[in-house]
Amino acid sequence: MGRRVKNNVYWVGKVDWELRRFHGDELSTHHGSTYNSYLVKEEKTVLIDTVWAPFSAEFMRELPRDVALDKIDAVVLNHAEVDHSGAAEDLLARIPGVPVYCTPNGVKSLKGHYHKNWNFKPVRTGDTLDIGNGKKLVFIEAAMIHWPDTMFTYLTGDNLLFSNDAFGQHLATDKIFADLVDKPTLWFEDMKYYANIVAPWSRMVDAKLKEIRGMNLPIDMILTSHGACWRGPDVAEVLDKYAQWANGYKENRIVIAYDSMWGGTRAMAEAIAKGIREADSRVELQVLSLSRSDKNDVMTEIFRAKAILIGSPSHNKCALASVGAALEELRGLAFKGKKAAAFGCYGWSGEAQTRLSSILSEIGFDVVDDGIKNLWEPDAEALDRCFEYGRQFALKVR
Ligand code: FEO
Repeated sequence: MGRRVKNNVYWVGKVDWELRRFHGDELSTHHGSTYNSYLVKEEKTVLIDTVWAPFSAEFMRELPRDVALDKIDAVVLNHAEVDHSGAAEDLLARIPGVPVYCTPNGVKSLKGHYHKNWNFKPVRTGDTLDIGNGKKLVFIEAAMIHWPDTMFTYLTGDNLLFSNDAFGQHLATDKIFADLVDKPTLWFEDMKYYANIVAPWSRMVDAKLKEIRGMNLPIDMILTSHGACWRGPDVAEVLDKYAQWANGYKENRIVIAYDSMWGGTRAMAEAIAKGIREADSRVELQVLSLSRSDKNDVMTEIFRAKAILIGSPSHNKCALASVGAALEELRGLAFKGKKAAAFGCYGWSGEAQTRLSSILSEIGFDVVDDGIKNLWEPDAEALDRCFEYGRQFALKVR
């Protein structure tokens, strides 16, 4: 059965307690997720978003407990990605001809996914749908937060912003609201979602936040499409967090991310870390093996950091594959305002460290120096050099 969110608005989504990988195998979801769908039952009945296709049969079994399907007057699809539109195919097969409200890009995406000629009603920012009882749905395009088709839907009277992916987290909870769930997990997952999914589009996020503030819409709740929703003081807090995250976010943290073949580059990483600690007792420091750590957790830690050191031995004139993959990920995520340098061991000609410095610069990091490399296994003297390098690096990025 659906659960009341506010007045005549009900949550009719799915909690996916088991989910551990998302976007194929690209994204780790240690705490599961939810696919939030909402039923608005005013004079008109409107369904906002659905659930992922593997849960479509369950969705279609449960939804009629809340509403006779032939009483649904409209379906709003804020975003075409299949975790939200997945059950629309089964639903619209049962209620053909019901209007589907989405952006013009949503029409293209939905046709691309399902190859159906549904009764699309393309909408733009400011377009409205009168649902009776003095209430309206107001559509707000939100392109690239995080797909070209994304939009938000605002319900007047109840002051609810249906934000789809924005502000959400991959967090399985049956509590619906953020104020009821464990805060450290909530905020870690919310930041992880931003860092790994939304960050490339931070410029659009910043502009959209300003646009929404300029619309002077009272917002009592932000109803996301994943994880917990925001109400009361949490609304302002999550809006403020997004404003910070969209503008070159950094904390007083340094990440040393490396891979190592025989332990030499790892020894360098640890000696550099000791030097950083010697120079700055307050900075948070993470030393992370790129081959042994969760990729998305590493990206989240880098998102929080003010500076990174990337390390790899030279291997076939390149960096190790795990390090190359991390840099490619960072290229796409396009974090802003972070300092960096590179380090690593080599035995022959030592290309990796120079190559890493060059890539770091190319993908938008402020490379503060030439980094440090070491021929063969680091001995005590080499480790002392790494320690001193770490000390100097901490001072440069302080
Ligand atoms: Fe949750 Fe962009 O899909």
